Amino acid sequence: MKNKHIIVGVSGGIAAYKAVEVVSRLRKLGAEVKVVMTENATKFVSPMTFGEISGHPVAVKMFEDVHDWNVEHIALATWADAYVVAPVTANVIGKLASGIADDMLTTQLMATKAPIFLCPAMNTNMYENPITQRNMNTLRELGMNILEADSGHLACGVVGKGRLPEPAKIVEWLSFHMMKNDVLADKTVIVTAGGTQEAIDPVRYIGNRSSGKMGYAIAEQVALAGARTILISAPSSLPVPYGVEFVPVDSARDMEEAVNSRYENCDAVIMAAAVADFRVENMADTKIKKMDKLELTLVKNPDILKGLGANKTHQKLIGFAAETQNVIEYGKSKVLNKNLDMLVANDVSKQNAGFNVDTNEVTFIYPGGQIVQLPLMTKSDVAKRIILALAEL
Ligand code: PMT
Repeated sequence: MKNKHIIVGVSGGIAAYKAVEVVSRLRKLGAEVKVVMTENATKFVSPMTFGEISGHPVAVKMFEDVHDWNVEHIALATWADAYVVAPVTANVIGKLASGIADDMLTTQLMATKAPIFLCPAMNTNMYENPITQRNMNTLRELGMNILEADSGHLACGVVGKGRLPEPAKIVEWLSFHMMKNDVLADKTVIVTAGGTQEAIDPVRYIGNRSSGKMGYAIAEQVALAGARTILISAPSSLPVPYGVEFVPVDSARDMEEAVNSRYENCDAVIMAAAVADFRVENMADTKIKKMDKLELTLVKNPDILKGLGANKTHQKLIGFAAETQNVIEYGKSKVLNKNLDMLVANDVSKQNAGFNVDTNEVTFIYPGGQIVQLPLMTKSDVAKRIILALAEL
């Protein structure tokens, strides 16, 4: 968002107050924000509030708020990198769908070439009205982005769909679309993340130190690269990245089932999960009582990635290797042994790399023996490099 020019349009609904926080959040992300209001919106929040929060005069009327010699509605419309309207009412949606431009907001929306992002908020009946739905579909077909309204208690007293989503969600949605590219457009990519949990009894499990940070960063970048992204994740406390289909799992066998059932129809799998190699042979049905000594028998878990490699048809496979010694040597044998297209090896004994940190230092290893060593960088940057490597593959 840094230095991006964003116009926030505000139309007349009780949710207009939430737009104040949208503007504030965008500015905190480094964007320059200008606000345009309909006259009805000024009945809910004063233009002065938006002026203070945005740091710019607010445009409301067509012929009174001229701030410089440029024709105001055209000047603002061409200044914008993105135009977001929150809340957008049924009235403004209807006008837009019909090509009516009778105030500053709708005139600018007609005049801008910037991508348009609409966040509807209104009474449930108005939202569900076939006319509103038809108008929204028309706008979608014309390439405008529409964020579905949330459900919940509405100001009119009813419970239903029509709430303006929280400002944080609006800003996340906007950032996602503005950062999106098409490096992996039309592809479906499965990403695994986190450490699987192997049950001992109903309350205990064997786990590992994976936080999910690496896999979630990859899923986020895959989605930004325009792919349909399926994140199959062992338990993690991280928020699910925007634009990702989320499949939560617990054990290695759950993960295997989730991956295998989606394998045929995907174009690539990136296995960043730390999958337990063993599980408890006989999980106790009830909580095991305290005792002096407890012996558990562990049996081998399936190797998910190896199975994918053996059944590969058109898919590209990227595996990870968590090593503490001979990283390249072990990595080279894993890439061949599992029939991978690329392996991301990380030395998890290094500080600031591997488990539960925000950075990683990795080496890409290819089946032909080619090696690309990357310096220490954030997991988000590692993820971007993996996406570029996958796109090349
Ligand atoms: O989640 P974070 O805290 O961010 O930590 C990131 C990470 C260290 C977990 C990640 O960078 C990483 O290295 N993931 C792979 C961990 C691992 O299981 O490595 P491995 O060398 O044991 O397995 C090799 C590959 O086979 C991996 O892609 C793994 O997902 C896969 N595998 C392993 C065992 C198994 N039974 N089935 C598998 O599919």
